[in-house]
Amino acid sequence: MSAGLAQAAYIVAALFFILSLAGLSKQTSARSGNYFGIAGMSIALIATIFGPYAEGLSWIFIAMVIGAAIGIYYAKRVEMTEMPELVAILHSFVGMAAVLVGYNSYLEPPVYAGEFAQTEHVIHMVEVFLGVFIGAVTFTGSIVAFGKLRGIISSSPLNLPHKHKMNLAAVVISTLLMVYFVKADGSMFALLVMTLIAFAFGYHLVASIGGADMPVVVSMLNSYSGWAAAAAGFMLANDLLIVTGALVGSSGAILSYIMCKAMNRSFISVIAGGFGQEVSVSSDVEYGEHREVSADEVAEMLKDSRSVIITPGYGMAVAQAQYPVHEITEKLRAKGVDVRFGIHPVAGRLPGHMNVLLAEAKVPYDIVLEMDEINDDFPETDTVLVIGANDTVNPAAMEDPNSPIAGMPVLEVWNAKNVIVFKRSMNTGYAGVQNPLFFKDNTAMLFGDAKESVDAISKAI
Ligand code: TAP
Repeated sequence: MSAGLAQAAYIVAALFFILSLAGLSKQTSARSGNYFGIAGMSIALIATIFGPYAEGLSWIFIAMVIGAAIGIYYAKRVEMTEMPELVAILHSFVGMAAVLVGYNSYLEPPVYAGEFAQTEHVIHMVEVFLGVFIGAVTFTGSIVAFGKLRGIISSSPLNLPHKHKMNLAAVVISTLLMVYFVKADGSMFALLVMTLIAFAFGYHLVASIGGADMPVVVSMLNSYSGWAAAAAGFMLANDLLIVTGALVGSSGAILSYIMCKAMNRSFISVIAGGFGQEVSVSSDVEYGEHREVSADEVAEMLKDSRSVIITPGYGMAVAQAQYPVHEITEKLRAKGVDVRFGIHPVAGRLPGHMNVLLAEAKVPYDIVLEMDEINDDFPETDTVLVIGANDTVNPAAMEDPNSPIAGMPVLEVWNAKNVIVFKRSMNTGYAGVQNPLFFKDNTAMLFGDAKESVDAISKAI
């Protein structure tokens, strides 16, 4: 394939990626968005492999077969609830790839000729340095995010003394090393020291963030991985990698911004790493007694209700309760009950988690509402079913300034006439804080696996 044809194919692939992003922004077009992405990536791969610069095709194919086999194996096995972990570990691969491309590009630099050869050489060295830095931060940061999401690493924030100063020092020293690197015309020592600092910086940045704020961290790492890929694109002089990296980098940054707004967090403090740690969990508060109900009682209550709102959370995903939830929704709607869903932006373990599950169970889109659209309707609601949600319906976010989730907007379910909470125990949610909702007078607990509880209610209805 000629260089011109490969370049044309890259432009087409870039267009497909943009169409893919546009498609993925709505549930109804998400499937076609995925197909556009697959088409773009296939074109990109073909143009790269058969393009003018690829060598050692057999090695590429062997690597692709091994990579595809591992990828298909894990993608088929991974549970929906484990998706954020998978995404986090994939980000770490992008980070490591950028580090390796950087070292490769340092060891075998392109040869520049002509009037601007020296300038181009300096730019290339800066690209190498920045690419390795971003890649190394993304690599260790993503590994820590993976560990926290999987529960291998404690989700509470690491609180080293002078942590902000340490972060600042890492950035300042790395900048000075970059100046030295360029002045010394590429010092391996400076590159190696910076790589070690960047690995430690990435680790520390994410380790100092508490579990409740992990959604923003994952999307921020998504953005970093995009910039790492773009940096690799500059080093390899590959336009498509630059475009794709910039798309991922900027869409990840926009998503992080939206999530920060949704969780009432400061975007700058997330990027700087380490918000949410200046608060303490008050565990010695007395909340009083909780009340329990049976599935039959809940079924009666639902039949007597005029309006019902269901607020699902991570527990619905674990129990795979979305199918019976759809079943009771249909049964109640057939009886003239107004049933709607209220979705918190970080319910579950990844953005849009609940929307995907409900769509999978064929719940109509028009009764699935965002938190902001439904929050004012709770006072006029007869019954709220909190199915496997905890942090996202925790009034402490509004009432307790010392809570780790203080300031995060929540679904104000307690304003409804009756609230039924479906969970297996009195355990805390992801953020590890107790929920005063469970002890309110209008709240009753329905203990057990969410799927079994909803099945029992469905039978009783
Ligand atoms: P959580 O606060 O995690 O609460 C889920 C609840 O479900 C738990 O209290 C658990 O209680 C219950 N549960 C688990 N398995 C169950 C089962 N089989 N049947 C019934 N109940 C079950 O969930 P949430 O309200 O959706 O909040 C999400 C949390 O995750 C937030 O803190 C958010 O910041 C964090 N997070 C979100 C994301 C994104 S992007 N959405 C990513 C990472 C982290 P029991 O153990 O007592 O059953």
